[in-house]
Amino acid sequence: MKEFTGYLGQFNSFIDTFDVLVSLSLTKTHHHDTYPAISPTKPSLSQTGRAVLITGGSGGIGFEIAQSFAKAGASKIIIVGRRNAVLDAAAAKLREEFKDSTTEFIARQGDIGDDASISSLWDFLNSRNIFVRVLVLNAAHVSPWLLDTLKMDKREIMEGFDVNIGGNFLMTVKFVNQPLRPAGQQLNLINVSTLMIIIADEHPVQDIQIIIYHPEMLYSEGVAKVADEDLINWDKMALPADYAVWAASSEASWLHGRFVWAHWDVDELKTNKEFLKRMEEEKDFLRVAVQGLKDISVEAFLDK
Ligand SMILES: NC(=O)c1ccc[n+]([C@@H]2O[C@H](COP(=O)([O-])OP(=O)(O)OC[C@H]3O[C@@H](n4cnc5c(N)ncnc54)[C@H](OP(=O)(O)O)[C@@H]3O)[C@@H](O)[C@H]2O)c1
Repeated sequence: MKEFTGYLGQFNSFIDTFDVLVSLSLTKTHHHDTYPAISPTKPSLSQTGRAVLITGGSGGIGFEIAQSFAKAGASKIIIVGRRNAVLDAAAAKLREEFKDSTTEFIARQGDIGDDASISSLWDFLNSRNIFVRVLVLNAAHVSPWLLDTLKMDKREIMEGFDVNIGGNFLMTVKFVNQPLRPAGQQLNLINVSTLMIIIADEHPVQDIQIIIYHPEMLYSEGVAKVADEDLINWDKMALPADYAVWAASSEASWLHGRFVWAHWDVDELKTNKEFLKRMEEEKDFLRVAVQGLKDISVEAFLDK
């Protein structure tokens, strides 16, 4: 067993927690791999003509997301990561795999936790006349998971904020304010795990479609550092990868601003009466909120 036991203190607690995660299912069909409804080769999910920027696209789930967008016909795929050698190897692999397609792959070194690095990335894209239509915020700083929050290292927490909150915020600001964005052009923002819900509150789906999803349990490079491969039956990378393409299509627009799990069957969700009722009636359903406080608004706060 790797450091995972050290992080958690108790291995059994992880299994208990994992069981809880698995049981978070709103649909009877519980996917562990890709399936036809989210297939990137489905015509209605086509990404033809779009430039897609993927943070952390050099490895793990991000790399697989790049493959899925290439299968969906994206015109340009920009992958961003901190390690140049890993980026170059990933770009070379993508170019080889999709050598018969028209997709152009661009590898760009960058750190989402660093403001100057983010500015330089967008300056580069603007200087190349690249208008990013789809942004996939996938890179994250994952802090060691401790059962006792008070045992966490403050520097770890702040690093997480710098990347997951501050970095993703600045990436979104640059994305929305691209000088090359045509007036009235809708954007698609896909957020893997971290939360962009408040921005979805302020922007209608016609402006920016924002879908936040949990990718499930994947044996990625990051996970391999802390867990053994035979620990559990890991999900297939194609599930969160293809899900990102589906989330960037108009088929997912009705989930704007909600946090969903990739293992929920998308067709079943659309026909699940109980689910649809909760979507309609509960403003905070699948969103972050203080439980018990429904429909809180500035007007209510000011007693108007
Ligand atoms: N794997 C899972 O089971 C699981 C479960 C729940 C949520 N997630 C979420 O899924 C996403 C991807 O996870 P993963 O397991 O694929 O991670 P991973 O294997 O650790 O890969 C992360 C990728 O992001 C890049 N990266 C990391 N920090 C970065 C930064 N500050 N700036 C730019 N690039 C950065 C890494 O390259 P460099 O190191 O070269 O920068 C690497 O290419 C994360 O948001 C994670 O929280 C994963």
